[in-house]
Amino acid sequence: MTIGTPLSQHATKALLLGSGELGKELAIALQRYGVEVIAVDRYANAPAHQVAHRCYVIDMTDGEALKKLIALEVPTFIIPELEAIATDALAEIESQGICTVVPNAKAIQLTMNREGIRELAAQTLGIPTSAYAFCESFEQLQAAVAGGIGYPCFIKPTMSSSGKGQSKVDHSEELSAAWDYAKASGRVDTGKVIVEAAIDFDFEITLLTVRALNAKNQVQTYFCEPIGHRQEHGDYRESWQPQAMTAAAIAASQAIAEKITTAIGGLGLFGVELFIKGDQVWFSEVSPRPHDTGMVTMATQKQNEFELHARAILGLPVDTRIQAQGASAVILSPIDASGVVYHGLAQALAVPDSEVRLFAKPEAFVGRRMGVALATADSVDEARIKAAIAANLIAIKPE
Ligand SMILES: Nc1ncnc2c1ncn2[C@@H]1O[C@H](COP(=O)(O)OP(=O)(O)OP(=O)(O)O)[C@@H](O)[C@H]1O
Ligand SMILES: [Mg+2]
Repeated sequence: MTIGTPLSQHATKALLLGSGELGKELAIALQRYGVEVIAVDRYANAPAHQVAHRCYVIDMTDGEALKKLIALEVPTFIIPELEAIATDALAEIESQGICTVVPNAKAIQLTMNREGIRELAAQTLGIPTSAYAFCESFEQLQAAVAGGIGYPCFIKPTMSSSGKGQSKVDHSEELSAAWDYAKASGRVDTGKVIVEAAIDFDFEITLLTVRALNAKNQVQTYFCEPIGHRQEHGDYRESWQPQAMTAAAIAASQAIAEKITTAIGGLGLFGVELFIKGDQVWFSEVSPRPHDTGMVTMATQKQNEFELHARAILGLPVDTRIQAQGASAVILSPIDASGVVYHGLAQALAVPDSEVRLFAKPEAFVGRRMGVALATADSVDEARIKAAIAANLIAIKPE
């Protein structure tokens, strides 16, 4: 692996498809190794746009627009940060052998639709998941729930993320509203929804799993310490690392993560979402890229999830060890406004061993993630309190 000089004819170029807060940290990590970073998003001044060498605003679900941009830039690596991408165009580009799609086009295709990844995990690989069914009509949904999935259950659009269109249903009277909501709120109406039996877990984790080259130049699977997290309305509020687990649950989690990431292939970091009860582990879903709950690694690991992804992609060695116990707490906007002003940064940073990242999004919406507070401590519980205090000290106002 060689690295060229950015903005020269020998540049090693990374095209980031999606320029949110995760893309911003990845852009910085790549630039530290001398990679030329081109950031793309559907709106101007997105977080990664603000730190990239160049940026574009295009509709990434438009295959022709995507192919035109790739032909213009000829990047070494195409790195998707989100799921709403014209994956057929990526597959076509990959087959031409000019650019590397990270981790590969199949991964992006499989994970953009819950059906692809769920069938791979449960049917092909025999990995434990919740009982589930894909339904194309309300009648099918009723039949699936009555036929064994039962209540409580979760109804989700097949193409969505961050909890959009998702509901937990406890009684049959709520089923029809959940069907309408899932049909209306998916990114794309695939005509199908997934219904999943609710898993009564003790806690849920993200197991960051890295496929990287080892000293023998072979692909090896590395694991970070498990990250525990708390979700509200399908979106994460706080995460911490390490999550205490039994040795059996760790072993089962790593075995599942290794199986699913090996089946997907390629080089890079993956966020494997798992539900844990005692020694039992269920697979939920996987992101073939850094995970929002993994932002905690900016405080806890020597190489955070963005650095690990950058190193793995570039064929460099990785070190997934944890250095400190820590936590992250999200900073959400309470208002709809553009060009907001952040108050309280000094107070937040006065919390010992804390750090704050403001994503600098041009527009705030109620509930939009605008930043994250991080903290380390002698225990995860203490770190969670410190991160929450720091996050609460940031006030987002119109001026
Ligand atoms: N079958 C289930 N049993 C129990 N809890 C569930 C189940 N499915 C989802 N949840 C809860 O809802 C959260 C979000 O679900 P999921 O990860 O499928 O949604 P998502 O829209 O893909 O969210 P994200 O993109 O943020 O990961 C889970 O982290 C979990 O807390
Ligand atoms: Mg999820």
